Amino acid sequence: MRDEVLIIGCGKIGSSLIDGWLNKKKYFYKKFSRIYVLEKSLKRRNLLKKKYKKKIFFIEIKNIKKKFKHVFLSFKPKDLNSDLNSYNNLLDNKTIIYSLLAGKKILDINQIFPINKNIIRLMLNTPISFNHGTIVFYPFKNRVNKNELFLLNLVGNVYKLKSEKFFDLITVIVGSGPAFFYYLLESIEKTAIAHGLNKSFVKKILINTYDGTGKLILNNFDKNYEDLRKNVTSKGGTTEAAIKSLKENNFKRLIYNSIKNSIKKAKILGSKKVK
Ligand SMILES: NC(=O)c1ccc[n+]([C@@H]2O[C@H](COP(=O)([O-])OP(=O)(O)OC[C@H]3O[C@@H](n4cnc5c(N)ncnc54)[C@H](OP(=O)(O)O)[C@@H]3O)[C@@H](O)[C@H]2O)c1
Repeated sequence: MRDEVLIIGCGKIGSSLIDGWLNKKKYFYKKFSRIYVLEKSLKRRNLLKKKYKKKIFFIEIKNIKKKFKHVFLSFKPKDLNSDLNSYNNLLDNKTIIYSLLAGKKILDINQIFPINKNIIRLMLNTPISFNHGTIVFYPFKNRVNKNELFLLNLVGNVYKLKSEKFFDLITVIVGSGPAFFYYLLESIEKTAIAHGLNKSFVKKILINTYDGTGKLILNNFDKNYEDLRKNVTSKGGTTEAAIKSLKENNFKRLIYNSIKNSIKKAKILGSKKVK
């Protein structure tokens, strides 16, 4: 019998998951029969209905009797503090709970959903929507079988962490990674436009440059970033002038501090007491 998956809180990341699964529907529907969504916001539910039509099924907590085998917690970390006791009715001891809640430790999730220990803490990013996501996980129980990772493998590359210790750092690198990248592109685009270049042309050459660079990095996996940079930085040249300015303005320190602040925020979100 095929399983059913439930997404609780279907905002940006919940719908990215659905997009990724539906892109691979041939594989998805071999093992899964339906995608269910439990979404608090009416506005969001209407948007999802319009986008996915009959491809997803909505449930309401008060009139649902069934138990789900796969449950994704995809609401904001602060919402773990709301009263979720009734959500335990959706689970049994076979349910796998996948938590996407930044900063929330496995034990916090277990405290709210004590019914089972089959919890997987995840961090991922929006490229999952077209199956190029990065997914890092840490499981409550040490052994995780292939079936439990099927839904994750469909949407990107999956990596297991041996300890939960570094999860907040992983959250910045993986979860916030796309935003870091967009911010860099946004800054270059702004400068180029200020110099008079056409916006759509800048967009094209930026995409091409960074897509090509990403592929080049993959092709030179054994080389480190510093060597790759030095390889394209001629002495006395234009790139060197640009990098010199970044160094003088302490670019690495800025990145270090922004990661540090993000980790701090994850700890604050994580430490807010679960009622
Ligand atoms: N966005 C990213 O790129 C990203 C990347 C990695 C991980 N994450 C993690 O993914 C989670 C979701 O992020 P998001 O950006 O997708 O958030 P989002 O767009 O705000 O979506 C969350 C949705 O869940 C709903 N919700 C809240 N409490 C609920 C409940 N008890 N039952 C059912 N629905 C509920 C919210 O409704 P209301 O608006 O009415 O509250 C909202 O529509 C977060 O924990 C975040 O840390 C996000």
